[in-house]
Amino acid sequence: MAATVFAPTQDRIEAALRLDFRSDTITQPTAEMREAMRTAEVGDDVFGEDPSINALETRAAEIFGKEAAVFVASGTQGNLLAQLSLTRPGEELIAEASSHIANSEVGGAARLGGLTLRPVVGERGKISPEQVVRTVRPENVHFARTTLLSIENTHNSAGGTIYSLDEIDALAEVAQRYGLKFHIDGARIFNAAVGLGVEPGRLAQNADTLTFCLSKGLSAPVGSVLVGSEEVIHEARRYRKMVGGGMRQAGVLAAAGLVALDLGVARLADDHRRARRLAEGLAQHPGIAIDLTTVQSNIVRFDIAGLKLTANDFADGLRQHAVRISGGPGTGVRMVTHRHIDDASIEQALDAVSTLLLTAKAS
Ligand SMILES: Cc1ncc(COP(=O)(O)O)c(C=O)c1O
Repeated sequence: MAATVFAPTQDRIEAALRLDFRSDTITQPTAEMREAMRTAEVGDDVFGEDPSINALETRAAEIFGKEAAVFVASGTQGNLLAQLSLTRPGEELIAEASSHIANSEVGGAARLGGLTLRPVVGERGKISPEQVVRTVRPENVHFARTTLLSIENTHNSAGGTIYSLDEIDALAEVAQRYGLKFHIDGARIFNAAVGLGVEPGRLAQNADTLTFCLSKGLSAPVGSVLVGSEEVIHEARRYRKMVGGGMRQAGVLAAAGLVALDLGVARLADDHRRARRLAEGLAQHPGIAIDLTTVQSNIVRFDIAGLKLTANDFADGLRQHAVRISGGPGTGVRMVTHRHIDDASIEQALDAVSTLLLTAKAS
């Protein structure tokens, strides 16, 4: 009964997303996820008794070749718990200057972990081993101790760029040499694995911890997972409780997460292919500056200073053609592909851009 009332509205909601390029976070749970959520076995997860969460954590630990995993509310919470568990107050962490941890996590590491951030400006979002060597503080009575290196793979604000295996291994080697713990913000690590054509576990091989999100390209409604050693994940579980993340019968969410891992990864290659087609189409416009080498996964970043428009103008203009993107006062624009964007969506968006630019030129 409820399903028949609900379905027509849901269809309309999902149809509206086929031209919504704001983020892969807007994806809706699939029919398989809804069914898994309806029938999920649940228990009190704070007591360790939720079978669906336990299954998800076991699965995540296996995928990434780690001893343990903890289901968390969000990527932000996973990153925070990693930082709290791997460091002590007063220490310092190295992260890329435009990374999510540095910019978009409400300064949680400073407020809750007493950590100082050493931002390093990476090349297309990627930090080099030499930069780490230059940034690590030597032992000196004046200095906070640098104890953690965090990288983002794929790198959101650099346009979904991917660290190669060699780059990750070299960073891990430097981290080990300088006694730094190594965390990977792998909110989109499955995109990185698909982009590189490697098993996701290989990308976490040398890391102490990795956070990945179920709720972005994988389409689950809620949740992320932090993986690491038994010891670190034990700590993370305590911090999760501290920040109010003990969610009780959250197996309804984990059930969707398990479906995301089963069915969501295989289709990410389509998102990547469509992002490339989108980027190549955008690159045809002289006023749009786009570095096609950064288009490595499902994110397309470009600059429209040459059009003499702001991202807000561009977003407003595209909205007239039913295409949604995030605006902003500057000239940088991001478009993201995801499960609701199909081949026709890309062509429609490119047509909308062409029409908008022709109209802007004529006026
Ligand atoms: C690279 C990266 N890390 C972490 C997060 C945080 O994830 P959440 O929104 O689930 O907190 C995001 C969100 O977009 C992200 O892009």
